Amino acid sequence: DTNPAANCYQCGLSARRNKVVYGDGPNPALGAIVGEAPGQSENLYGRPFVGASGKLLREGLSSIGLDIPTEVYITNLVKCWPGHDAKGKQLAPNAEEIRTCTSLYLKGQLNAATPTLILAIGALAAKWLCGKALASSANQPWPGIGPAEGYAVIPLYHPAAVLRNRKKWGLTWEKGLKAVGRYLFPPPPSE
Ligand code: URA
Repeated sequence: DTNPAANCYQCGLSARRNKVVYGDGPNPALGAIVGEAPGQSENLYGRPFVGASGKLLREGLSSIGLDIPTEVYITNLVKCWPGHDAKGKQLAPNAEEIRTCTSLYLKGQLNAATPTLILAIGALAAKWLCGKALASSANQPWPGIGPAEGYAVIPLYHPAAVLRNRKKWGLTWEKGLKAVGRYLFPPPPSE
């Protein structure tokens, strides 16, 4: 399949990237995952959420009954790896990079996928897709803003945070998965 951003040089992230990581999944899609930015594995493979975070995310969504290849569109706010600092910590994309990339690509991707629910993964995705701080918005549905306007958004803590500290974030993560399951697969009304 073709990648419309393969030769994009519209922001500074184009300087350090290897592959432009556009998006994966069906159109239309039942759910859409929007992360922050490709990590190092994604930068090498050219596919979103294929590293350790992706494994946890994919396992979690399978466990609530989502069939990822046929039901979930996966992408990020920005399509290029932002690089890392001297300690090896990944850099966050800046506001200008996010504005440019979401208006050029993410808006169109979401309007092609027309998901019933968008999962905003991590604090930056929560801020840009529902305008809320993650701590006060996680694991609940909100109306989308900007590129997510017209869609429902549930912010989730980033699986990278869960992998760094399971004691702290493990239960919150499980609750988030359950909230997604309830939204997408509501139980039939009881008699
Ligand atoms: N983390 C993200 O936010 N996005 C990816 O694609 C991979 C890891």
